[in-house]
Amino acid sequence: MEQRKIVVTSALPYANGDIHIGHLVEYLQTDFWVRFQRMRGAKVCYVCADDTHGTPIMIRARKEGRAPEALIAEMRERHVRDFSAFQMSFDNYYSTNTPENRAFCEDIYAKLENAGALRHENVAQLWCPDCAMFLPDRFVKGTCPNCGAAEQYGDNCERCGTTYSPADLKDAHCATCGSRALETRETEHILFDLAKYRDYLKQWLPVHTQTDVANKLCEWFGEDQKLLPWDISRDAPYFGFEIPGKPGKYFYVWLDAPVGYLASLENWCSKHGEKFDEWWGDPEAERYHFIGKDIVRFHCLFWPSMLHAAGYEGPTRVFVHGFLTVNGEKMSKSRGTFISAQTYLKHLDPAALRYYYACKINNTTDDIDLNLDDFAQRVNSDLVGKITNLASRGAQMLGKRLDGRIGDLDEEGAALVKAALSRSDAIAALYEERKFSQVPVEVCRIANAANEYFDRHAPWKTIKTDPEATRPVLSAVLAAFRAMAIYLAPILPAYAEKAAKLFGESAWTWGSLGESVAGRTIGAYEYLAERIDPAAVEAMVEDSKPTEPPPSADSQKNAAAAAPANAAACPAVKPAIAFPAFDAVDLRVAKVERCTAVEKSKKLVRFELDCGPLGHRTIFSGIRSAYPDPSVLDGRQVVFVANLSPREMKGVGVSEGMVLTAGDPATGLAVLSPIAPVRPGDPAC
Ligand code: MSP
Ligand code: ZN
Repeated sequence: MEQRKIVVTSALPYANGDIHIGHLVEYLQTDFWVRFQRMRGAKVCYVCADDTHGTPIMIRARKEGRAPEALIAEMRERHVRDFSAFQMSFDNYYSTNTPENRAFCEDIYAKLENAGALRHENVAQLWCPDCAMFLPDRFVKGTCPNCGAAEQYGDNCERCGTTYSPADLKDAHCATCGSRALETRETEHILFDLAKYRDYLKQWLPVHTQTDVANKLCEWFGEDQKLLPWDISRDAPYFGFEIPGKPGKYFYVWLDAPVGYLASLENWCSKHGEKFDEWWGDPEAERYHFIGKDIVRFHCLFWPSMLHAAGYEGPTRVFVHGFLTVNGEKMSKSRGTFISAQTYLKHLDPAALRYYYACKINNTTDDIDLNLDDFAQRVNSDLVGKITNLASRGAQMLGKRLDGRIGDLDEEGAALVKAALSRSDAIAALYEERKFSQVPVEVCRIANAANEYFDRHAPWKTIKTDPEATRPVLSAVLAAFRAMAIYLAPILPAYAEKAAKLFGESAWTWGSLGESVAGRTIGAYEYLAERIDPAAVEAMVEDSKPTEPPPSADSQKNAAAAAPANAAACPAVKPAIAFPAFDAVDLRVAKVERCTAVEKSKKLVRFELDCGPLGHRTIFSGIRSAYPDPSVLDGRQVVFVANLSPREMKGVGVSEGMVLTAGDPATGLAVLSPIAPVRPGDPAC
């Protein structure tokens, strides 16, 4: 048979968050499959990358007062660190913010334009004058037009479930800066005409995705005009790739993200002397995407029709998986079940999660439950108790008392090993079809038989009375263990590597199952798997809980009761914030170079500040009534917020922070000034 050539991808994690155990449901199963294919001799290229573009990343970088490039560089390092700790075997881990990705996006865009797949239309969208940007749906908040729930996002109400457009919200305001002065502005958008590919999708879906996914999608767009044009452009400011010939317009992040699969593959090809066209362009090569069910629309509607329209090969299959629940519920920060990869690693062995996820994951879109008690129980009783114990007891006895040499088998032992090896094709088929959860079941069945054989022959007794008669028993148990460890190798690569070393071998392939180990001398037994201490699981959950719980309803009530009776006379004290919210504000001291009145404004003054290492900044402040001659502030020190998003002040300029003031708005706000540290003995000033 020709060697299979397989491109495999996992969805590209967003660069604005750390990897958590939910993500790992996807990355680990892809890794199981990829490692299995490599063991079977396929030529595999497993690519992934960070998904770096879009509004949330731009806003976060702004808030943190740094360039988005600095943010995504840091996140990439964190992702790579977590993935390697979990023994992920990517062939290439790249980024969507790369020249290759830009080139593919531009190429695909030009081909879509040529194919008549794009429409250019004016679209009305909300604009925040303070942030100076168009607001994506999730960046608008307001009151639900249907049920009146406050603080709902611009796309749907979390209380009553109604979907609407942001313009329908009552009291609409910018979720970033709170501005209520939102405007509706028209701007040209570029749309991908999805409805043109209805027939293509109808025949594509059933062949390229799981039946339930295909049925659901076909049912959904089959009847009426549900395949709405897909908006692939966004207006500046946007962190992404500018669209050629369209200054101020950028490719929407969901256009350039899947193209990132191609970019990562191209980057790998160029580093390894391979040709992209022989992987993505070759109809004989295979291409598989592993994704979660939340991003099906992008991978099973937009992506295949876009590739088809642009004349690119499409994926061979899209494998869709379900979502992680922990103890039967959605991952939750307050319950401590929103567990990051880092927190997991602080308390537990990555191999344990790899094993447990394998026990739970199959080829359906059903959700996967991580039950923390069951997790400890399965790892301890099956992986450690049943499987690994065979190796540790067998190898240590053989090593200590019988020079470690594996001998011939007795009839019963030979049958045991033969039965273990006979499962090779069945287990390979389970991997191929991504029925991972059946693999540990098969392996445990072999382990049960081996344990039963071991116990019946009681080698711990015979080793004292007749060591030579014990050799065949230990040899059979070790040969059966070796088969089990090979079967588990895609799931437990580090474990398999140590087990292979025990038999004097290096990296196993599926073909290793056919090799006999009779006559070999085993190496020193290395510790293979660790029991899970339930206390470590508990500690991990505790560690994942937020450090400061939100105030309970009760404590809020008490605070209100304790407020002085005349509280109504002064502006209400804002709701309490936790320390992290306060700590997010970056306060600095600056020297006023010049403070001047702003012409055309009764209220505003313009500060020109020397901010030391931060350079020079201009900040506008509405304190003219308190300082009719603002020049009295020249040369003074002031305190300012250095990480406030820059804000466009109509007709005046951009304000790059806020100078702190306090006092009574009626009689005049005072600018706050620092008092330099004074130590005992310093001359009084
Ligand atoms: N950036 C997009 C994917 C772009 S692919 C061209 C994205 N990123 S993500 O970080 O939110 O998710 C990455 C993958 O992890 C997705 O396939 C997603 O379904 C999966 N999971 C994220 N949380 C998950 C769970 N709680 N459970 C299972 N899978 C989950 O989507
Ligand atoms: Zn705003």
